[in-house]
Amino acid sequence: MTITATSTTGSSTVDPARFRQVLGQYPTGVVVVTALDATGTAIGMTVGSFTSVSLDPPLVAFLPDKNSSSWRALRESGDRFCVNVLDADQEDVCRAIATRKTDKFAGIDWHPSPGGNPVVDGAVAWIDCVAEQVHDAGDHQIVVGRVLDLDLGDGDSPLLFFRGGYGSFMPHSLAASDADLLDQLRLVDLARPHLEELADRFGTEVTAIALVRDELVLAAAAGHTEIATGPTRVGQRLPFAAPLGSCYAAYGDDALRERWLASIAGHLTEQQLERLRGVPDMVRERGYAIALGHSETSNLERISTLVHERDPGVSAETLREAMARVTDGYNPSTPLADLVELRSLSAPVFGRDGRVALTLTLWGPQAPVDVAAVAEYVGALLDTAAAATAAIGGVRP
Ligand SMILES: Cc1cc2nc3c(=O)[nH]c(=O)nc-3n(C[C@H](O)[C@H](O)[C@H](O)COP(=O)(O)O)c2cc1C
Repeated sequence: MTITATSTTGSSTVDPARFRQVLGQYPTGVVVVTALDATGTAIGMTVGSFTSVSLDPPLVAFLPDKNSSSWRALRESGDRFCVNVLDADQEDVCRAIATRKTDKFAGIDWHPSPGGNPVVDGAVAWIDCVAEQVHDAGDHQIVVGRVLDLDLGDGDSPLLFFRGGYGSFMPHSLAASDADLLDQLRLVDLARPHLEELADRFGTEVTAIALVRDELVLAAAAGHTEIATGPTRVGQRLPFAAPLGSCYAAYGDDALRERWLASIAGHLTEQQLERLRGVPDMVRERGYAIALGHSETSNLERISTLVHERDPGVSAETLREAMARVTDGYNPSTPLADLVELRSLSAPVFGRDGRVALTLTLWGPQAPVDVAAVAEYVGALLDTAAAATAAIGGVRP
């Protein structure tokens, strides 16, 4: 590679340990920059300083240490290289390529990119480049590469590096790639401060759930609840079926209400089905939905988490069975007992068209609560839902 050097000079008064400590607060992704050497052997370097630079022309960059032997080998191999974005489960690849060994790719499966560079199997993405500029930058260089070709790989969640440790991305709201949710995600952004305020006030989790076709999608979460079994529930999808999602059924037309019952009906008794037919009107009258009981609902939570993690051992039928088993705890028509296990309360947020745009769910505490506490939760949730409706410019029908 030819180096067009713009020299940076001058001594620093910054303590190196402090520099590392402070800059370590900034997380990075992890890529492996690869090429083939003159003998056709795969060579590479683990890099956290990769960044996208320009769309037109398409440019990316990374910053190698001037003293890195891996960088020297890459430079000597020519001006072509491939950037591999590592997946969260490829920490072993990251470590293997970050060593000073020579045969770093032993035991790592890869295939050639269109440009002939190694693409590590299972990477999230790969980007074939030609180095266009190499700038001098202190003890590092800035390599600017023009993108020749690129594609997504088999991996789906990138490896992250932060304060010397590795991790993966845990979203608080869904990524914009969930195209079917884009409209709701815009609304979630506007409503988010209200979710956070409510979660803070009760020290629990507040979630925003969207109805997308036949599914209820957990689109955003604020705060935390002990009820959740996984590290994050954002992205969880459950079928739009009774008893879940009753706020949507409450403000929906007859066809929606029918859909809400149809797919679960086979798992319910006649008596349960009959009671559920009255639930939408009751929820509409109350203005909120309530779920009680922790034992069966914990089972549903466990199974939904397994479904979310794509556990092949959990079928759609198992999930509906678990949903059917919580039916009696949802929206009871009788008055509440003095002490109840409050699972959750949900209320609708209305869009500009007067239809339910999102529902907000306030998760109750593990310990039983009295009727006055439930009333306090309900009041706060309804105020928050009203504020969120106003924030998105919505109108209550
Ligand atoms: C997560 C991670 C990120 C790294 N990022 C960079 C980087 O941006 N630039 C760099 O020169 N070295 C980086 N390194 C270090 C190199 O991958 C490699 O460990 C080091 O250059 C080894 O020395 P060698 O190149 O002389 O073999 C990183 C290492 C790790 C583990």
